[in-house]
Amino acid sequence: MDIAKVDVTMSDGDFSKLRAIVHKNTGITIGETRKSMLVSRLRSRLREVAAPDFAAYISHLSKDPEEMQELTNRVTTNETYFYRTPRVWDYFQDEFLPQFLTKGQNRSLRVWSGAASTGEEAHTIGTLLEDVRLKNQNFDYSILGTDVSSRVLDVATKGVYKGRSIARFRQAKPEVFKAHMTGNDTDGFSANPQIRSRIKFKLHNLFDRLSKAGPFDAVFLRNVLIYFTDDDQVKILDQVHDQMRPDGVLFIGESETLTKLNTPFEQIAPIIYRPKAKAKS
Ligand SMILES: C[S@@+](CC[C@H](N)C(=O)[O-])C[C@H]1O[C@@H](n2cnc3c(N)ncnc32)[C@H](O)[C@@H]1O
Repeated sequence: MDIAKVDVTMSDGDFSKLRAIVHKNTGITIGETRKSMLVSRLRSRLREVAAPDFAAYISHLSKDPEEMQELTNRVTTNETYFYRTPRVWDYFQDEFLPQFLTKGQNRSLRVWSGAASTGEEAHTIGTLLEDVRLKNQNFDYSILGTDVSSRVLDVATKGVYKGRSIARFRQAKPEVFKAHMTGNDTDGFSANPQIRSRIKFKLHNLFDRLSKAGPFDAVFLRNVLIYFTDDDQVKILDQVHDQMRPDGVLFIGESETLTKLNTPFEQIAPIIYRPKAKAKS
C-alpha cells in the first residue's frame, strides 16, 4: 500500500471503539488522554494490513479474529528485567522459602508468574529455586509463566537474555548468575537446562480461569494491576485467590497496592500479601 495513502489520524469515535475492544479482550483500560500512544503503537499495523485509516482497521478487526492477538501484542506494555525490586526477592529467599522448607512438604513448590512478559521474572525465580534444589535433595519446583501477549511469550520461550535485562541481577547476585546462567555478552545468556525444564510458558488472560495449573504456593502478579480498573483488579484477585494454597504468598508491583480494594488478601509487608481464609458458606 502507498504509505502516503494511510490516514493515521484517529477520530474520537474510533479511539472510543478501540478502547472498548481492548478492554473487552484484555481488561486493559486505556486512559482517555492516551490517544497518541495508541496511534503510535498501531500506525505501522495499518500499513501491514493495508487499512487506509482506523475505521478500516476496526472493520478488519471484526472480520479477522487473529488480528485481536496482534492488537493485544501491540497495546500491552511489557517492561521487565531480571531481579526487579530486590525486596521481593529478599522476602522470597529469606522468609518464604525457609518457611516452605521447614514445613517439610513432600511435594513440589509451584510458582505462577501471572504477567510473565518476556520471562525475566520466571527465570529469576528459576535460578533462585535451583539454588535451593541443589542444596536440598527432597526439594523440587515448577514455574508457570503466563501472559496475554503471544509476542512476549515467544521471547520467554526462547529464554535468551542480554544487556539491561540481566544487568541488575548479575550485579546483585553474581554467584547465582554464574552458577545458573550460561552464555556470553554477544549471544546472550540462558538459564541452565535443569531450570528451563521446570518452567513452562502459556498464553493466558488473567480474566479467564486458569485450568489444570494450581494450586500455587507463590504467585507473582507484578506491574500488571496498574492497567486495570479497581473493579477489574478485584475480579482478577478473586480468581487468583482460588488458585492459591491457603499458606501461599502473592507479590504485586512496587507501584501497586491492594489495601484500598475489597480483596481476599491481607498484607504481610508492602507489596506482599497472603490469602485470607475463605468465609464458610
Ligand atoms: C509491565 S509487564 C510486567 C512483567 C513482570 N511481571 C514484571 O513485573 O517485571 C506487564 C505484562 O502484563 C501483561 N498483561 C496485560 N494484561 C494482561 C491480562 N489481561 N492477562 C495476562 N497478562 C496481561 C502484558 O502483556 C505485559 O507483558
